[in-house]
Amino acid sequence: MPSRTKERNPARLAVRDVNPKHKSKRVIIAIDGPAGAGKSTIARMVAQKLGILYIDTGAMYRALTLKALREGVDCSDERTLSALLKKTRIDLVYAQDGALRVFLDNEDVSADIRKPQITRFVSDVAKVPGVRKQMLLLQRRLGMKSSCILDGRDIGTVVFPHAEKKFFLDANFKERVGRRHKELQLTGQKVSFQDVEKDLSNRDTIDSTRACAPLKKAPDAIYVDTTDMTINEVVETLLGYIESSSR
Ligand code: DC
Repeated sequence: MPSRTKERNPARLAVRDVNPKHKSKRVIIAIDGPAGAGKSTIARMVAQKLGILYIDTGAMYRALTLKALREGVDCSDERTLSALLKKTRIDLVYAQDGALRVFLDNEDVSADIRKPQITRFVSDVAKVPGVRKQMLLLQRRLGMKSSCILDGRDIGTVVFPHAEKKFFLDANFKERVGRRHKELQLTGQKVSFQDVEKDLSNRDTIDSTRACAPLKKAPDAIYVDTTDMTINEVVETLLGYIESSSR
């Protein structure tokens, strides 16, 4: 018999954690920034080095977008999207090697949520206040469980304004387009440079101008311009800041 709390808000999100190291003192690290700045790659690597969880909040919005498109829901229909999220289960499951799998209602959708169709609509879904309100609660609940790094657009400003460490990763527009284009090619998706350029520009605008929790740097976040940095240099830079403040 479901509890009253579950009836009121059955939307569930769980992280299945297989690493016993994650149970020590809880620390939250926030990484925000625009698409293509390298957040997810960097966040995953830093999390692995520190032995803490990585929570990809963008994947949560992507999973809901996938469900909305499958069910023919209009991605600007706030009421239906919010209701849809309430009856949705999203799981982020980590394998021993740190690879992240995303499950939507128990189905592995890790590849599907990266498809261009999802990328095209996800910013529209993510700007809906009723959706963000629920995601905020889910993300806070996750962050309470164990030390973690969360990446997104509003982690340091809204979700965890008191995070121990906050970073804002950025890179110039052309560089971000180039990285995203390369990433898509590597996963076998045939998208032109111009299409990626259009998509990123569109998402930048929607993510940073929406009324609810827009993308912006928290005043106390450390700004890192990754344009001319290698992945390892960015990882080392972040670890340097994290380790210097934990001494
Ligand atoms: O990081 P990503 O490209 O997977 O994110 C997908 C979309 O979700 C992006 O357009 C912005 C939105 N998003 C958000 O609004 N807030 C977050 N915390 C994470 C992602």
